Amino acid sequence: MFNFNFHIPTKILFGQGKIAHLADEISAYGSRVLFCYGGGSIKKIGLYDEIIEQFSSKGIFYQELSGISPNPRIEEVREGIKLIREHQLNFILPVGGGSTIDCAKAISAGAAYQGDAWDLVIGKAKPQQTIPIGTVLTLSATGSEMNGGAVISNMETKQKLSLGSPLLLPKFSILDPSYTFSVSAAQTAAGTADIMSHTFENYFSLNDDAFLQNRLAEAILRTCIYYAPKALANPHNYDARANLMWAGTWAINGLLSAGKNTDWSVHAMEHELSAFYDITHGVGLAILTPHWLNYVLNETTVQRIATFGTAVWGIYTDDIYETAKLAIQKTSEFFASLGIPMRLRDVGIGEEHLQEMAEAAVRHKGGKIDGFQELGAEDVLAIYKAAL
Ligand code: NZQ
Ligand code: ZN
Repeated sequence: MFNFNFHIPTKILFGQGKIAHLADEISAYGSRVLFCYGGGSIKKIGLYDEIIEQFSSKGIFYQELSGISPNPRIEEVREGIKLIREHQLNFILPVGGGSTIDCAKAISAGAAYQGDAWDLVIGKAKPQQTIPIGTVLTLSATGSEMNGGAVISNMETKQKLSLGSPLLLPKFSILDPSYTFSVSAAQTAAGTADIMSHTFENYFSLNDDAFLQNRLAEAILRTCIYYAPKALANPHNYDARANLMWAGTWAINGLLSAGKNTDWSVHAMEHELSAFYDITHGVGLAILTPHWLNYVLNETTVQRIATFGTAVWGIYTDDIYETAKLAIQKTSEFFASLGIPMRLRDVGIGEEHLQEMAEAAVRHKGGKIDGFQELGAEDVLAIYKAAL
């Protein structure tokens, strides 16, 4: 196991009704709030009214940034920064899924930065000073509620890139599973695929003897496999929603990657699909994952994939390759059973940009993707082609 630091100061308020503590939590950090949300789902579930009511009863000044897109845009970040500066806001409250939270994080880093916020996304500048954030999560997927990462898109340049800093860790996150009752079947499935992919990105590594982390990863995968079908069958199943939410939070907060070398191969490949075609992140991951695993299956990786097959899917055969292949097949069938379209063509992606996307995926990783197996542009292209 490699050396690591693990420090997540995000306070989690988990469970039904925890929103009652929102104003008090905010008051520990600020009194002038940028209230961020997406296209209006929070209004449909009554959360918007509840928050406004608390703001007015506790005398919290606020400005709204609404309409944040899935795959949040740099323009939306700039708009938020403008509001912070105009109204001297000192706290940011994103209420929604990963897109809203990520947009808020980029605003938090950009508000104190004198140049254009895109510099922070492309790595030209690092977040130095940030505005405190607290989140209210409404979709189980990205883990943004308990990590310091944010992913921002620039549709003009066809780039979707991430920035990260411990300074961007939310001060608190309110996780009420009942807010996810209204998440559509498609988003529930995509969110589950995202949680599983985060777990895979951490799990499929070599030579680190991070035994405990791998057993924790298997538990998260089994939780997703057990509860996602239940949440789809009954969207109001609180325990299913609660377990998915908590699984999502722990899949990408540093616990599973501690002591490991990981390079997030499938995310690197997927971010290009989203950047070029604006598709749902979790869907792109579900499509690519089985093809990536098939492509990297070889004598150095077979043991880990077979272990996954046995621990997570209960597959036992005499042949380690057969176990590994069955595990990949089961994973693909599981995603399909959730209703996820499983071919790139099903989400409108053809051959036209595959080469360009493959080159960009590798370029954005500094020349190669150095994960479970090293991937160059030709490897990524082959995986994209297999997924067509
Ligand atoms: O915009 P609204 O109206 O809120 O609707 C959203 C949106 O249309 C809807 N939704 C959210 N909560 C809902 C709901 N609908 C009904 N009921 C609710 N309770 O769901 C749609 C998708 O929302 P979005 O926030 O885009 O989804 P998600 O949480 O999957 O976030 C995806 C973004 O996060 C990035 C992705 O790349 C993508 O841009 N990621 C962020 C990560 C991070 N910060 O650590 C890691 C991930 O790997 C990922 O890359
Ligand atoms: Zn993801």
